[in-house]
Amino acid sequence: MIIRPRRLRRTSTIRRMVRETIIRVEDLILPIFVKHGKGEREPIPSMMGHYRLSVHELVEEAEEVWSLGIPAIILFGLPRVKDALGSEAYARDGIVQKAVAAVKERVPELVVLTDVCLCQYTDHGHCGVIEDGHIDNDATLDILSRVAISHAEAGADFVSPSDMMDGRVRAIRGALERDGFKDTGIMSYAVKYASSFYGPFREAADSKPQFGDRKSYQMDPANAREAIKEALLDIEEGADIIMVKPALPYLDIIHQVRACIHIPVAAYNVSGEYAMVKATDQRGWIDGGEVMMEMLLSIKRAGADLILTYFAKDAAKILNTNER
Ligand code: PBG
Repeated sequence: MIIRPRRLRRTSTIRRMVRETIIRVEDLILPIFVKHGKGEREPIPSMMGHYRLSVHELVEEAEEVWSLGIPAIILFGLPRVKDALGSEAYARDGIVQKAVAAVKERVPELVVLTDVCLCQYTDHGHCGVIEDGHIDNDATLDILSRVAISHAEAGADFVSPSDMMDGRVRAIRGALERDGFKDTGIMSYAVKYASSFYGPFREAADSKPQFGDRKSYQMDPANAREAIKEALLDIEEGADIIMVKPALPYLDIIHQVRACIHIPVAAYNVSGEYAMVKATDQRGWIDGGEVMMEMLLSIKRAGADLILTYFAKDAAKILNTNER
């Protein structure tokens, strides 16, 4: 007897019936950059189709995102001024705080997540406070908690610490509970590697470290067991969703984390992964749309429940036409 696996690939209907992995619009979270000013829609050269938006433009974008069926956005702020402590990060009238309030007023059902970090806000570009040339982990926790509280006050549904300081999830959860934000969730960048795939983001957010690198806080790309340790630790500290970042070079990590934990796993399909597809598509070397869907599928198949991706709108448009 010959076994003929091709029988299950014969027609598009049969293929649909036996398909194992499905991407849903509900799986997608769109990252957006927001800045001060009026009428701003400043293109980000390395991230085609993405802009630094002022608040009014952001609200319009949020309406479009919601109408496409995308359930959530994550906001990254560009402050007016940077200083040693990153004080705009926790200012009441900071850019993210204003943006969250404006979006929640106009599109209340859209889930708004906020990136909680200091690198865009500090003059040295590091994700923590600097003491004698070193990152002071524990001094940073107080500031991160203030940032998280200010985002919760503005109406954020989830805060998302991306700094990789030890103990930040516990500190932030404690502060949220203490101040009455018991319904504000935490999606923690639990497994965040020191990756070169963040290049376009750092240009977009103007967040390059002014000296050294992030290797003393972000994870070594060689380590997989440590990913499980970080994920379990953040769950113990109170995270609601665990994120792995980047996605494509770390599909094995997504898979392993998924197998070990029992809360949702998100994967961040980062700026460099996006830029590579857009740039090669523009040269006509690949079909960007097809490659995008194949990438997102691989992230889902690896085990991610949710995908943060700059492709969210492009993908939603394809998913919303019933063509498969
Ligand atoms: C802030 C932060 C970064 C990203 C998300 N949050 C940059 C970094 O850690 O240097 C990268 C996202 C992307 O590349 O799309 N710490």
